[in-house]
Amino acid sequence: MHVAPRLLDGPLILRAATRLDAHPITRILREGADDGLVTRSDEVDAGAVSRQIELARAAANSLYVVAALPGENPLQPDDDEVVGLLLLEGAPLHRLHDVARLTMAVASAHRNKNIGRRMMQYAMEVADASGRIRKIELLTRANNATAIHLYTSLGFAVEGRLAARLRLDDGSFLDDVCMARFKP
Ligand SMILES: CC(C)(COP(=O)(O)OP(=O)(O)OC[C@H]1O[C@@H](n2cnc3c(N)ncnc32)[C@H](O)[C@@H]1OP(=O)(O)O)[C@@H](O)C(=O)NCCC(=O)NCCS
Repeated sequence: MHVAPRLLDGPLILRAATRLDAHPITRILREGADDGLVTRSDEVDAGAVSRQIELARAAANSLYVVAALPGENPLQPDDDEVVGLLLLEGAPLHRLHDVARLTMAVASAHRNKNIGRRMMQYAMEVADASGRIRKIELLTRANNATAIHLYTSLGFAVEGRLAARLRLDDGSFLDDVCMARFKP
């Protein structure tokens, strides 16, 4: 999906991810692996991230956004510091074509500074305007209070709970919560 870059008030750029972002995105996904993502850090691969970025750029029902701190030239994608990512991955199947699955993470040093909220607002605005995404779905760990608070405050509703879905490294299990938001 095409996304016009936006320089926000305060030092934050929101723009479509390019393949040049694959390495910083990989670093952030590895950091988030222990905190809230389903992938383990050794399962995140820059090549796969790069392919995912290309697929999202090509698909009308997908969107890969990064949040970045500006460098010398704020609108030069290769001159900024990527501090967050958000993927809306549209389903390839025809009957699910207007449903997208959300993944997001912010670099640990930059959390709780509104970056996640601003990426979400931007992605929802672009998705709504595109007319290609009717429903955004996500799964989050039942103990991810920050994420659940953020999604709820942005209009996401809990649709269900998948019991003991995640096996943690200590052998214990954790529920996933299913949340979703419909285009208004
Ligand atoms: C979830 C995540 C993306 C949020 O990004 P962020 O930039 O830190 O989010 P924001 O700063 O925009 O918003 C965080 C909100 O959670 C609130 N919050 C922080 N800690 C909290 C806690 N322990 N319990 C409840 N709410 C909490 C903040 O007050 C803020 O809410 P507010 O805007 O109403 O004050 C980030 O924490 C992250 O990358 N986590 C690891 C990966 C992950 O869990 N991804 C989501 C998987 S579904």
